Amino acid sequence: LQSELLARIYAADTLDALEAVRLAALGKAGQITQLMKSLGGLQPEERLAVAPAYQALRETVSAALEARKADLGRAALTARLEAERIDMSLPPAPPLAGSVHPISQVMDELSEIFADLGFAVAEGPEIESDWHNFTALNIPPEHPARAMHDTFYATPAEGGERMVLRTHTSPVQIRTMMAEKPPIRIIAPGRVYRSDSDATHTPMFHQVEGLVIDRGIHLGHLKWTLETFVKAFFEVDDVTLRLRPSYFPFTEPGVEVDVGCSWENGTLKIGGTSSWMEILGAGMVHRRVLENCGLDPAEWQGFAFGCGIDRLAMLKYGMTDLRAFFDADLRWLKHFGFAS
Ligand code: PHE
Repeated sequence: LQSELLARIYAADTLDALEAVRLAALGKAGQITQLMKSLGGLQPEERLAVAPAYQALRETVSAALEARKADLGRAALTARLEAERIDMSLPPAPPLAGSVHPISQVMDELSEIFADLGFAVAEGPEIESDWHNFTALNIPPEHPARAMHDTFYATPAEGGERMVLRTHTSPVQIRTMMAEKPPIRIIAPGRVYRSDSDATHTPMFHQVEGLVIDRGIHLGHLKWTLETFVKAFFEVDDVTLRLRPSYFPFTEPGVEVDVGCSWENGTLKIGGTSSWMEILGAGMVHRRVLENCGLDPAEWQGFAFGCGIDRLAMLKYGMTDLRAFFDADLRWLKHFGFAS
């Protein structure tokens, strides 16, 4: 029996198989257990004759079971370590670096270009009072120009002022003129809101406002400033701007500014004059706006402009759908070189 059991123990090649052998030998109904039980039915001298052999059999088999169990356990661990091995010599996957959103990049570029021209950066709230967004800019209640703005209105608090999501960055003009003494040279980049959405309009978009107030300022200063800006931003020397008469309640005169373009292999390039593209609205600050801010129009004059940043970015990077800026699609950001 001993050699039979030992053979089965060494043949067991898994812990489960080994356990089956143990039960067959030492379990409740196991062969050795049965032998030990049978001792009780023997005469004392018979018992004395066989008991030490049974005892030795049980110890030998137990020891063999233990030893085999330890071996199998080690083998299982080795196999697992082998299977779960990590190759420490492989190069690590490159970490994904975060990056600045293209719109923010363009805002930073704008701020740098205008900083070189002596402009400071100004800010104002996105939830703006009706007065700053409209009335102070010579757009009183009931003025038809309000209809052009697709305004998001907030429900006013009882007896409170009516607030709006600012529809343009022009209220920052008002805040700056009321807070600072001229001469003033600021740009105000930021978010603006209009209830409008399609391939070229998103309900939130970005504008940059420019404002200069000083003595003897005229349209020539406006045109030079914008030309200098467009050349620096698009990195093109040959730039022609066209000022077309237009109407904004807060400017007199008001102009729309087109930049000269040309078609090259199906894409519109800045430069040349074979085609024109509107890039911003501008004008001389209306005397009533100066007065609303406590400035005497006989002493101070100025120009202002307001420009869609998203449109500028689309032009610079040759994009067709404005909404792509807001999808946060990594494939798109990578394709345009905005993420690694
Ligand atoms: N605020 C105007 C707009 O959003 C743009 C503008 C700014 C025009 C300043 C003239 C002067 O359309």
